[in-house]
Amino acid sequence: MAAMSKASLIVAAIFLLSLTSATVAHGLRSGRKFVMSYDEPCMEMRLYLHDILYDYSNSTSNSTSAAATKPTALATAVPSTGGTFFGRMVVFNDPMTKGKALPPSLEETAVRAQGFYFYDKKEDFSAWFAFSIVFNSTEHRGTLNLMGADPNTATRDISVVGGTGDFFMSRGVATLRTDAFEGFTYFRLQMDIKLYECYLGLMATWSNASLIVAAVVVLGLSSASVAHGRRGRSFVSSYDAPCKEMRLYLHDIIYDYSNSTSNSTSAAATKPTALSTAVSNPGYFFGEMVVFNDPMTEGKALPSPAMEKTAVRAQGLYLYDKKEAPNAWFAFSVVFNSTAHRGTLNLMGADLMSEKTRDLSVVGGTGDFFMARGVATLSTDEASADLSYFRLKVDIKLYECYV
Ligand SMILES: *[C@@H]1O[C@H](CO)[C@@H](O)[C@H](O)[C@H]1NC(C)=O
Ligand SMILES: *[C@@H]1O[C@H](CO)[C@@H](O)[C@H](O)[C@H]1NC(C)=O
Ligand SMILES: *[C@@H]1O[C@H](CO)[C@@H](O)[C@H](O)[C@H]1NC(C)=O
Ligand SMILES: *[C@@H]1O[C@H](CO)[C@@H](O)[C@H](O)[C@H]1NC(C)=O
Ligand SMILES: *[C@@H]1O[C@H](CO)[C@@H](O)[C@H](O)[C@H]1NC(C)=O
Ligand SMILES: *[C@@H]1O[C@H](CO)[C@@H](O)[C@H](O)[C@H]1NC(C)=O
Ligand SMILES: *[C@@H]1O[C@H](CO)[C@@H](O)[C@H](O)[C@H]1NC(C)=O
Repeated sequence: MAAMSKASLIVAAIFLLSLTSATVAHGLRSGRKFVMSYDEPCMEMRLYLHDILYDYSNSTSNSTSAAATKPTALATAVPSTGGTFFGRMVVFNDPMTKGKALPPSLEETAVRAQGFYFYDKKEDFSAWFAFSIVFNSTEHRGTLNLMGADPNTATRDISVVGGTGDFFMSRGVATLRTDAFEGFTYFRLQMDIKLYECYLGLMATWSNASLIVAAVVVLGLSSASVAHGRRGRSFVSSYDAPCKEMRLYLHDIIYDYSNSTSNSTSAAATKPTALSTAVSNPGYFFGEMVVFNDPMTEGKALPSPAMEKTAVRAQGLYLYDKKEAPNAWFAFSVVFNSTAHRGTLNLMGADLMSEKTRDLSVVGGTGDFFMARGVATLSTDEASADLSYFRLKVDIKLYECYV
């Protein structure tokens, strides 16, 4: 409550300034500026996604996606149409390009889309997507995390729910349009990404916003935190320093098909895809989806005596999504059930295993973490050669908290 009086003054100032512009920027001492502009995006780009589905031939080199599951029994039982693949899940690691042409190398592009889609309608084509766009070029480094419905309409909007790196904490909307469709083996999606919440460096060019930043600075905002008063909770957003941070270790022990089930915390829900077994080195499990309910601990040691009962757990899925190297994609919740914390944090993002550290988005929270957002940095703390056990260090930093 101590910070409130100053905060409410700033809220009032920002509110007044908002009346003259749809753009609000919170100035900070150094580092990032939060820019939100709901009339026009603070950042936009057009990219094309190329998806080449593995067709079970021996030609694996240009495949960028593969079916991880068969269509469900429901799909095959629907008499009239069939063929809409209800329930089929496809794992992809697709190149994205600025132009429409396929890139010279399908594997090595500066921008990639990694994740999955599944078909989800009986009588028509309809899909649902969850994936990350991974930027790895001199122009941009970082990820955007997206999810949403892809029905059979001319254009469809999906949500950009978070970002990392150059896209730190971004949110927005991506509009998809099918640009080419060749049977079921190749499609190209035009993706118009518009970010309406951006955190930009000082040097970025946003003339409208800088006016307001100047005003905020003049009003004497010397703190890095901005708090908006509400009846019960206060919203604290602080982009230079997290409003909450914690380190946890995640232990994953995959079931090995033995009778020793007691210490298994995860299990493969699908086999590696046919693409994975067809490529020369099938050891990277392309398309395998693993469901987990993993203990998380403050220290590195496995919880004792029980793997099942810990105050913090990670529940969700990861899938392997690269042909020539181990690489994963995560969507899960961290569930807290202790005297210290009760509630959940929801995370998603690419686990680029070739990198020492990888950032995932914390896209939301509940309970003690009501509406929280932030970034979680993963690093592999230990892993057996066959990945049957791994321990991840998870550094969670929340930059939007309601306290
Ligand atoms: C694929 O390769 C296997 C082994 O090299 C061979 O037996 C099979 O005939 C090939 N299939 C096609 C469709 O080329
Ligand atoms: C993929 O490779 C096969 C065989 O090399 C070729 O027939 C096909 O046209 C290629 N597809 C694309 C989209 O390049
Ligand atoms: C990003 O690019 C660098 C340089 O080309 C490469 O060494 C690194 O493996 C790439 N990272 C990913 C995740 O692709
Ligand atoms: C500033 O706002 C005006 C009017 O809303 C708009 O036309 C212009 O493009 C904006 N400039 C920038 C850099 O966003
Ligand atoms: C697993 O359990 C089954 C049934 O109890 C038994 O037949 C089998 O031999 C066991 N396998 C191993 C590897 O212990
Ligand atoms: C899991 O249990 C098996 C058999 O009890 C044991 O060999 C293995 O080392 C255990 N794994 C871990 C990570 O504790
Ligand atoms: C949380 O902990 C309480 C007390 O230990 C227990 O009764 C309850 O089942 C737990 N809830 C979950 C979701 O694990």
